[in-house]
Amino acid sequence: MRFLASLHTLSLVSALVAASNPDLKVPKCPSTVSTKFTTQIPSGAACPQTSVELCYTNTNLSLVFTALGETNFYYDPKQTTNDNIWEYEVMEAFIYKGSDDPQTYFEYEVSPNNVTFNAFIFNPSRVRKAHKPFDHAYIAEPFSDGFTVDTVLDKKGKKWTSRSTIPLALFNGENPRGTTWRMNFFRTITSPSTFPNQQLCGWKNTGQANFHITPSFGTVQFV
Ligand SMILES: *[C@@H]1O[C@H](CO)[C@@H](O)[C@H](O)[C@H]1NC(C)=O
Ligand SMILES: *[C@@H]1O[C@H](CO)[C@@H](O)[C@H](O)[C@H]1NC(C)=O
Repeated sequence: MRFLASLHTLSLVSALVAASNPDLKVPKCPSTVSTKFTTQIPSGAACPQTSVELCYTNTNLSLVFTALGETNFYYDPKQTTNDNIWEYEVMEAFIYKGSDDPQTYFEYEVSPNNVTFNAFIFNPSRVRKAHKPFDHAYIAEPFSDGFTVDTVLDKKGKKWTSRSTIPLALFNGENPRGTTWRMNFFRTITSPSTFPNQQLCGWKNTGQANFHITPSFGTVQFV
């Protein structure tokens, strides 16, 4: 009992520490904050740089993903909204409003042909444990719901950039100033000659070739 109680206290304390010392402080637009990552998950080997720039309005989260060092721009042109675009090349954000390690969170992805994947993930083990429940609830009509996306390829510059806005109401998160969220950001890299193998690049290393490890999510504060 005492052991359980102290474990509980420990997790409360670590949540408080994370909230007072976030990995990222997101300002109100038009100010922005930017973070970048350059390593593979889980090996830590080099990845071409990916950056994510964030800001908020009272009703939307703005995300600008930029992939550098891109040579493949590889996607399946037959795929459309909520198809398995993650089999090819994507940039991704996992998003949860709250400071604990989530069991349900939003997975947002965009591909070089401007297609998005939009789903709440149900991951009660928090680590996508084998033989445990893991499910999706898709947002079927993201553009009717107020999402926006715009993706620009610069093949000469080996770069692609995607600007997205995501409605904060999706998270019961309007007027987010002062709230603490958990997020992780990823990029997959593959090519016609290496498909279906992928390089997995990430902001917070999950320690496995598996993005769905929620204790690894970073802490993000809206300021
Ligand atoms: C933000 O959300 C509001 C409605 O909630 C919408 O009218 C507006 O166009 C959105 N802004 C952007 C930049 O998408
Ligand atoms: C990307 O898709 C969105 C949603 O359909 C559309 O509004 C936007 O114009 C597209 N951008 C490009 C560059 O194709």
